[in-house]
Amino acid sequence: MDTAAPTNGAAEVRELLSAERIAERVRELGRQITADYRGRSLVLLCVLKGSFVFTADLARAIDLPLSVEFLGVASYGDDTNSSGAVKITQDLSTSIEGKDVLLIEDIVDTGLTLAFLLRILQARGPASLEVCALLDKPSRRATEVVPRYVGFELGNEFVVGYGLDFAQRFRNLPFVGTVASGAQRVG
Ligand code: IMP
Ligand code: MG
Repeated sequence: MDTAAPTNGAAEVRELLSAERIAERVRELGRQITADYRGRSLVLLCVLKGSFVFTADLARAIDLPLSVEFLGVASYGDDTNSSGAVKITQDLSTSIEGKDVLLIEDIVDTGLTLAFLLRILQARGPASLEVCALLDKPSRRATEVVPRYVGFELGNEFVVGYGLDFAQRFRNLPFVGTVASGAQRVG
């Protein structure tokens, strides 16, 4: 019988980016975004679920008037591979027409999810639409999308933590790391 107490799974994950390194990079991104959008106000568009932690920290690192909107998106299946087939699970609650919109992504992998979202959002007539991604795997791109702001570039490895999941687990880890194969699934 398994009598081990449930944990956040940190022991199953090899740390790649420490909480401190992420925090420092988020502060830098916040300063850069603040400078680039000086004199304007911003809509931070958080793509759920993976971006919720990054958005919360980044919003507090930006010294501008801003609002936060949430767009719920789910890739089909719980695979570690994106099919590019995306469904909107929760739409925006307000119009973005004429607004400066910064879409916040946890990670850009093949780019298929982002390309799909940018197409939908562009059709709604924002004044500007840019992307800030915490993580980028440029070598994996299947379509051309270039985030304006990137926290860290990664190779071809599947990562979890700081909002990112594997089968809905590990989102609450304060760091980013690679998950050992055979990690236990929940839900
Ligand atoms: P893409 O469509 O291939 O760019 O994949 C984008 C989405 O797949 C991300 O928003 C994540 O939800 C998920 N994803 C891609 N790579 C990873 C990873 O390494 N860890 C966790 N989720 C990932
Ligand atoms: Mg995901």
